[in-house]
Amino acid sequence: MFSKTQLAKKYIRYYFNSSNGKGHGIHSPFVFDFITKILNDKNKYACYDKIESLRNKLLSDETILEIEDFGAGSRVNATNKRKVSAVAKSALKQKKFGRLLFRLVQYYQPKNILELGACFGITTSYLSFGNQTAQVFTMEGAKQITKVAKTNFEKLGLNNIKLIEGNFDNTLPSFIQQLKQQNLQLDFIFIDGNHRYEPTVRYFNDLLQVVNDNTILIFDDIHWSEEMERAWKEILLNERITLSIDLFFIGIVFFRKENKVKQDFIIRF
Ligand SMILES: C[S@@+](CC[C@H](N)C(=O)[O-])C[C@H]1O[C@@H](n2cnc3c(N)ncnc32)[C@H](O)[C@@H]1O
Repeated sequence: MFSKTQLAKKYIRYYFNSSNGKGHGIHSPFVFDFITKILNDKNKYACYDKIESLRNKLLSDETILEIEDFGAGSRVNATNKRKVSAVAKSALKQKKFGRLLFRLVQYYQPKNILELGACFGITTSYLSFGNQTAQVFTMEGAKQITKVAKTNFEKLGLNNIKLIEGNFDNTLPSFIQQLKQQNLQLDFIFIDGNHRYEPTVRYFNDLLQVVNDNTILIFDDIHWSEEMERAWKEILLNERITLSIDLFFIGIVFFRKENKVKQDFIIRF
């Protein structure tokens, strides 16, 4: 993981190297739409406050949880006692990005959505509200965390979410097999857990079996560490990717066929 100073320097470099986020000079109609209709959509949607008030409750919840550590090798090798509030503060995606994910789902209406790393289900809820007719699958390994997530889905009245418990290393390959058997594909994927080089690249390669031309695949924290930057750079070399958008805190890849020449955008958000 980079130090705060290293990350700040990287952010400043990103800020000055990125397109201004207004769509000026962007010739791709798809990316222009993405910027003007999704990135810059300033509407206040009803779910925003509902989800954020739940986040606030988590941020002041002093309950202590026993959390499995998915450290080296992603094996459950230790447990760790942490307050709900501390986990909520460090692990959840900021509201700005949760809301962006909601708008992406709302705009493109993906039918089958997968999130790796549910934690307390805050981002999962944004995904679920984006398209309530979609099936949202979310994976989480820490048992006591999954209980909190399930309670949160009930509180928000969300019933299109299926939480798959266990280590991604086991749950993802069998989930992909099930999808293949049913001839199903994923239209939207958010990878937000196990932020290391090897698993990130492996999950990406495995998921390629179940993506289609319209799938939107999002990686969290692509500039968070040397390993994640290496993974992001390597993933971008994959020939199935026709378009990528780097928003610094997340990276998005697309497989759309209308893009004849691959384009990599860095956009200010
Ligand atoms: C950054 S948090 C997810 C935050 C969530 N997406 C949000 O924004 O609301 C990552 C989660 O992934 C889980 N995780 C990490 N590695 C895992 C693994 N190998 N298998 C299962 N769960 C894992 C952690 O327990 C943690 O809750």
